[in-house]
Amino acid sequence: MAYELDQFIVDCRSILARDSGPKGREQVRQHLERLLKNPDFVKKHCEDAPRGLHVLYEDPKLGFQVLAHINDKARAGTPHDHGASWAIYGQATHYTDMIEWEREDDGGDPKHAKLKPAKKYRLEPGHAGIYQNGKIHSIAYPDHARFIRVTGTNLDRIHRVRFDLKTGEIHPMTPQLAT
Ligand SMILES: [Fe+2]
Repeated sequence: MAYELDQFIVDCRSILARDSGPKGREQVRQHLERLLKNPDFVKKHCEDAPRGLHVLYEDPKLGFQVLAHINDKARAGTPHDHGASWAIYGQATHYTDMIEWEREDDGGDPKHAKLKPAKKYRLEPGHAGIYQNGKIHSIAYPDHARFIRVTGTNLDRIHRVRFDLKTGEIHPMTPQLAT
């Protein structure tokens, strides 16, 4: 039987209630990959969905969210973190090029940072990557790339930052910047 969104949510809830740390999150990542291999789910919630950012689910107790990013236009984003939350990115259609960044400075200056790329790879359909609390990454994708994101909490409610690679400046992230 195909693995459906409802079952994925039930599984996320029981996994994260038991262990919201890295081990539980890894299980969520694996379950998300399973969900993305269900072509009916991908068609309904990703291919045929209207453009925009859709909250598919928010857990009232644990606070995690399942989001569908339905993009039409290609975009290359700036490096950013997810504040005190984690995020799992699961590719539904096309691909996302990921760069994970490390800070080269000592982190002592709250307004400036020097970053270096630590890992570069492409998330292909059916693959999910996990970004732990405070981890810095940037994403780039072509037209019509669509992905599902699971976050530990509603990221619009927490402090997050983005990094300007040219100037080294650290800026607060506004909710509209989403990913
Ligand atoms: Fe992100």
